[in-house]
Amino acid sequence: MPTISIPALGLQLQADPDENLLKVLRRHRVPIGWSCKRGECGSCKCVLERGEVDLRGYQPGALPAAQREQGIILACSSRILGDVQIGLVDTDDYIEHPIRRLGCRVLWLRELAPEVFALRLGIVGAWEPEPGGEADAGGPFLFSAGQYAHLKARDAHGAWIGRDFSMAGTPVEAEYDGELEFHIRRTPGGSFSGLLGGAIVAGTELRLEGPMGRAYFRPRHQGPLYAVAAGTGLGPMLSVVQTALDNGKTDPVVLYAGFRNPSEVYGVELMRQLAQRHGNFRAHVVVEFDAPGGLRGGRVGDALFADVRDFAEAKVYLAGSPAMVEAVSAELLARGVPARDLHADAFYAPAPEALAPAQQDAAGA
Ligand SMILES: Cc1cc2nc3c(=O)[nH]c(=O)nc-3n(C[C@H](O)[C@H](O)[C@H](O)COP(=O)(O)OP(=O)(O)OC[C@H]3O[C@@H](n4cnc5c(N)ncnc54)[C@H](O)[C@@H]3O)c2cc1C
Ligand code: FES
Repeated sequence: MPTISIPALGLQLQADPDENLLKVLRRHRVPIGWSCKRGECGSCKCVLERGEVDLRGYQPGALPAAQREQGIILACSSRILGDVQIGLVDTDDYIEHPIRRLGCRVLWLRELAPEVFALRLGIVGAWEPEPGGEADAGGPFLFSAGQYAHLKARDAHGAWIGRDFSMAGTPVEAEYDGELEFHIRRTPGGSFSGLLGGAIVAGTELRLEGPMGRAYFRPRHQGPLYAVAAGTGLGPMLSVVQTALDNGKTDPVVLYAGFRNPSEVYGVELMRQLAQRHGNFRAHVVVEFDAPGGLRGGRVGDALFADVRDFAEAKVYLAGSPAMVEAVSAELLARGVPARDLHADAFYAPAPEALAPAQQDAAGA
C-alpha cells in the first residue's frame, strides 16, 4: 500500500495503489485547497518532493511549465505511482486550520442587492466525527480571512448539492459569535444558488466543509495591500481588508469593488465606515456598465492599473469571476509583481459532473 508523507505536517498517510492524490489528501483532511477538481483552477498545488505521480489532463494556465519544473504538481490531476513525499506550497504566514465537516442552520437570509444575498449560518455541530475523535459540539470554525468553504444543501428532490462560497465576515467575529456569513449571487437556474429563498430559508440545515483556499490574509506582510473584488468577491475581500485594519496595519489598504451594473452595488456603507475609522483605508466602487454620476465607470482592473503604477512591496488579493481574476493576475505578473505576492481564489464554476445533483448524491458528496 503506497504511503504519502508530508513532513511539514508530520503526516504519513496510507493510499490505495493508483489513487488520485487529491482524493487521499481530502480523505485525511489535509489542509490543501481544491475547487474545480479538473486541473483548471490551480487551487490544489503542492510540491512533489520524492516519488512519482502520473500528472495529466490539466490546463497549462493552472500549472505553468516553470512551476512544473520546480516540482509543483496539481493534486487533483495526479495519480500516485508508489510512495511519495509531498510539500505544501505558499507557506508564508501559513496558518493551519484543520478541515472540518460541520452541520449548520440558516439564521437568516438578507437581500444585499437584487439577486445578491447575505446568508448567515449558525454552527450546530459536527456533521461527522473528527478523525480519530468523537463527534464534537461544533464551533468555533477557525479560518483565515479570504478563505472559503464547501456548502451543501438538499435540493427539491432531497439530493445533496454542494458549491464553494467564501466567508464574508472576519474570522474573529466568527470565532466569538459562532456564526458565519456568505455573500451569494443567485445565478439564474443555479443548482445551489437557485435554492436561496426556496429550499434554503431561515431554519434550513446545511452542511459545511472547510476552510479552504490560499488567498488568505498574510498578517506579517509589510507594505501596501490591494484587494480587488468582482461582484460577490467583495465578501472575502471585505474580510481581508477588515482583518488587516483590525490587526493594526498602517500601510495603505485599498479596496477595489467591481460590479457589472449599478443595481448590483452593495457594501458601500461598510466601506464608508471603515474609511472613517481608518485613515489608511480607501475604497473604490467601479461599475462596468451605465455607471451613474458619482460612481466610477469601467472595469475594476483598469481602475486599479490607472491608479497604481508601482506595486513594489505590495500584496494583491483577488476574488470573483475567473475572467477578472485571470486578467488582473496576468497583468500584475507582466508588470513584475512576483507570484508570491498575488493571492487569488477565482470563483470557478464546478466540474460538469457537479452540475448533476443526482450523481453527487450517489457519490455521497
Ligand atoms: C473558491 C470559490 C469561492 C466561491 N465563492 C463564492 C461566493 O462567495 N459567492 C458566490 O456567489 N459565489 C461563489 N463561488 C461560485 C459558487 O461556488 C457557484 O459556482 C455559483 O454560486 C453557481 O452555482 P450554482 O449551483 O448556483 O449554479 P450551477 O448550477 O453550478 O450553474 C448554473 C449555470 O450557470 C453557469 N454558471 C455558474 N457559475 C457562473 C458564473 N459565475 N458566471 C456565469 N455563469 C455561471 C453554469 O455554467 C451553469 O450553466 C465560488 C466559487 C469558488 C470556486
Ligand atoms: S486544479 Fe486541482 S482543484 Fe482545481
